[in-house]
Amino acid sequence: MKDNIILIGFMGCGKTSVGIRLSYKRRQTMIDTDKWIEKKQKKTVSEIFETCGEEAFRRMETQCLEELVGTAERQIISVGGGLPMRKENHALLKELGKVFYLKVTPEAVYERLKDDTTRPLLQVEDPMGRIRELMERRTPVYESCADVILEVSDKSFEEILGEIDRAL
Ligand code: S3P
Repeated sequence: MKDNIILIGFMGCGKTSVGIRLSYKRRQTMIDTDKWIEKKQKKTVSEIFETCGEEAFRRMETQCLEELVGTAERQIISVGGGLPMRKENHALLKELGKVFYLKVTPEAVYERLKDDTTRPLLQVEDPMGRIRELMERRTPVYESCADVILEVSDKSFEEILGEIDRAL
């Protein structure tokens, strides 16, 4: 297993904001799989979903992990909310490092993302229903991928970083 720190969890759980703070604190660089894909494709995630479809995006996520397994050392890696849903990604995540699952409630996700337009999966008439449905399906998968599960809905960044530190 490599020595990266991997952050997984539902959209809006705080992977990016926790990752950035962790990166400052530990003086480790951070990689975000969505950003990595956007840079490589020269398109936003929404544009990729629109022009190539979700399945193509999922293949890009696996390709991103495969590259990171070959290159990433001592990094903070934040992964897109749907990435753990592909079975072949589980071994890659494990190989990359210690996996932290940031667990949130559907209500917290809704509050944080209700005005967001960058998550194609939530651009529907009933976003709360979609959040609940996706979360129900994803929670057991996130849990099975995780080395550490952190409840984060009501916690400050300081508390979350403290818990990650203790688990490392
Ligand atoms: C997705 C989550 C997004 C992004 C894409 C699909 C998902 O990343 O990869 O919109 O399926 O949950 P974040 O979890 O960083 O929002």
